[in-house]
Amino acid sequence: MRALRYHGPRQPLRLEDVPAPEPGPGDVIVRVTAAGLCHTELHFLSGLLDLGVHPLTLGHEIVGRVERVGEGVPLSRVGERVIVYYYAGCGQCPECLRGDENLCAAPRAEHGFFTDGGFAERVRAPARNAVPLPDAVSDADAAPIGCGVTTAVHAARLARVALGDWVVVYGAGGVGFGLVQVARLQGARVIAVGRSEAKLAKARELGAEAVVRAGAEDVAARVRAITGGRGADVVFELVATRETMDASVKALGKRGRLVFVGYSEDAFQVHPIQLVVNEQVVTASVGNTLAELRLAVDLVAQGRVRTVVDRTLPLERFQDAIDSLQAGRLVGRAVLVP
Ligand SMILES: NC(=O)c1ccc[n+]([C@@H]2O[C@H](COP(=O)([O-])OP(=O)(O)OC[C@H]3O[C@@H](n4cnc5c(N)ncnc54)[C@H](OP(=O)(O)O)[C@@H]3O)[C@@H](O)[C@H]2O)c1
Ligand SMILES: [Zn+2]
Ligand SMILES: [Zn+2]
Repeated sequence: MRALRYHGPRQPLRLEDVPAPEPGPGDVIVRVTAAGLCHTELHFLSGLLDLGVHPLTLGHEIVGRVERVGEGVPLSRVGERVIVYYYAGCGQCPECLRGDENLCAAPRAEHGFFTDGGFAERVRAPARNAVPLPDAVSDADAAPIGCGVTTAVHAARLARVALGDWVVVYGAGGVGFGLVQVARLQGARVIAVGRSEAKLAKARELGAEAVVRAGAEDVAARVRAITGGRGADVVFELVATRETMDASVKALGKRGRLVFVGYSEDAFQVHPIQLVVNEQVVTASVGNTLAELRLAVDLVAQGRVRTVVDRTLPLERFQDAIDSLQAGRLVGRAVLVP
């Protein structure tokens, strides 16, 4: 089958012929019909994120049909439309027992990270990771649920976004569009920060009450002004460069929570005195749980959260998708169709 292979940092992705996966006991083989491109793929390509596993098929926003099942999996699952939960925890550790598979220290798989992912015609996954998709959501629209929306659900939960909170979404992109909507559903008033007009317009359409144009405006000063001088209760950092982290810290109000979701090559610096006198919290969010993926699917199926797909491209046009993401030309996700 055809698969888009990662060969390590600063190496181009290559479309190659590889053996199709065979299902082991408890597995399903999913014929992939849509796979979203996340900004994390750019971190793999630059080497900022290097798990040392390659060659590897990337892609962790995976939608398709169950094509085959392994021993112990009901044949009735063949043909099911599914979205793949990309973590497979060990199932035994305290984190897994709590359902926090994203924090498992000895995961069995992480599709698109150190286990083959969705930029291929087929992917093998444990049957429990293949979550049924309702007919209401198309394959392409469903793909960004797998990380974009689910990561937002997880981060908003960890940040304890509450009724009336002022929430800044710093970085209006794939995950940011999810966060705007999820924070709104939790009763927050949302300020989206970005550089591109088109993305800020989309953030407004999705429920942001105010938008701030980074580069053209002083982000922290604008957030303070919008919040009546109080500053934000929560800032979600989806960019995390030196410049944006400085602005995020300055925009934070008393007992504000700064939540890192994104990262860059830059390190974070803050003087503890600011945190102390304002009782502020710096925290972070990684991935999501299986329960959160199921919730995210429900939210999209009910129309309470929308995914944003800029374009759908055949797998062989992957470079176009990567270049467009890198150049900031995408409003939402590019989805590849193998
Ligand atoms: N923790 C996790 O579990 C997790 C999960 C998924 C992704 N991530 C990470 O989260 C980050 C965001 O991912 P994503 O897929 O949402 O990326 P994305 O689609 O590229 O969105 C990021 C957005 O940030 C904006 N931006 C860039 N530089 C900016 C600046 N200086 N000021 C203001 N806005 C700026 C860009 O829009 P403009 O054109 O407006 O600049 C871009 O659309 C990445 O670092 C990714 O690796 C983490
Ligand atoms: Zn992702
Ligand atoms: Zn575990």
